[in-house]
Amino acid sequence: MTPRTLLDLPTPSLVLDRAKLARNIARMAAACRRNGVALRPHLKTAKSIDVARLVLDAGTVGIAVSTLREAEYFAAEGVRDIQYAVCITPDKLERVARIQAMGVKLALITDNVDVAHAIAARHGEIDATFHVQIEVDCGENRTGVPAGSDDLKAIASALDAAPNVIFDGVMTHAGHSYACRSLAEIEELAEIERRSVVEAAEAVRALGIDCPNVSLGSTPTALHARNLDGVTETRAGVYMFGDMFQAQIGSCRVEDLAVSVLAEVSSHRADLNHLTVDAGALALSKDRGTENVPNDIGFGLIANVAGEALDPQLKVTRVFQEHGLVPMVPGHSLDHFPIGEKVRIFPNHVCMTAAMYDRYHVVDSENGDGIEIVAVWHRVNGW
Ligand SMILES: Cc1ncc(COP(=O)(O)O)c(C=O)c1O
Repeated sequence: MTPRTLLDLPTPSLVLDRAKLARNIARMAAACRRNGVALRPHLKTAKSIDVARLVLDAGTVGIAVSTLREAEYFAAEGVRDIQYAVCITPDKLERVARIQAMGVKLALITDNVDVAHAIAARHGEIDATFHVQIEVDCGENRTGVPAGSDDLKAIASALDAAPNVIFDGVMTHAGHSYACRSLAEIEELAEIERRSVVEAAEAVRALGIDCPNVSLGSTPTALHARNLDGVTETRAGVYMFGDMFQAQIGSCRVEDLAVSVLAEVSSHRADLNHLTVDAGALALSKDRGTENVPNDIGFGLIANVAGEALDPQLKVTRVFQEHGLVPMVPGHSLDHFPIGEKVRIFPNHVCMTAAMYDRYHVVDSENGDGIEIVAVWHRVNGW
């Protein structure tokens, strides 16, 4: 029998609230309009064409992805402008060429002059022209070159000279915005992110090289940037769903969280005053993103089956592979959660949690009872 409501679903299952998703999409689109910058949504979190269509309908220049598997999937679904926002390695170029042959502009990124030369060396061997951007490090210390560095200029010159490359611009990602603990800090970092990538674009242009794209973004900085002068596009991803970590740093409210894990109460320990749910580390992820924020929500916040959070202290505090442990807190007792009771859990880091599931069970909190399954949307996992 096809499940009709969340009560009919096996647990754990992944739930997506379409009404909240739509509101989150509209909010980011409005933030980009306010800053006069195009939006290139990063689909690393959603990995779903159904979600992508809603985002694209809200007005975007294209999408960003984090795996070539996503690029293949979205290309097959008709998306024509894709940025693969992870440093390219030369062994992936044949696969890139096959995706491009589907009629797609697939922009690549690099932060390495040897990679730039290696791409050039494939001229004549792979029948393709590659669009390549340079990644700039605006302080995250993950990947990228400093904005004004000799490395940046060397890579730009190597790409510009390569017969099989179209130099496509510069990009950066202020992932360290997740460490900000106030709006003022996020605003300040958004400006550092902007200045870094604009300075890099100017350094490239000073070499006489056209720099068409100046791309930046993370959800906190994209939402709170006050000025994006010189930037052409913003990439943001997790904003579509939100998660407990984003709620803690002020990117959204708990009421905005669009994705949750449906679980079931599986055991009571009256002597220890806790229950367990059948969603553990594999169903929620072991991400402890809220560990260092004022309200640590452990591995997820408990809500009722309709998706209403019950108490800011009612959370999964420990996980085992298939068990999540929920201590009772004042005002709640095990009697409120009989074995078999369905709950929803808002995860810490939705990108990690969602990656364990192959589909979303879609509900709509604005229409009907909010637990009716109105659609099933598939996800593309893997690499
Ligand atoms: C390169 C790059 N751009 C953009 C993003 C989107 O950031 P967020 O999920 O905070 O919106 C990410 C996220 O990891 C990223 O790695």
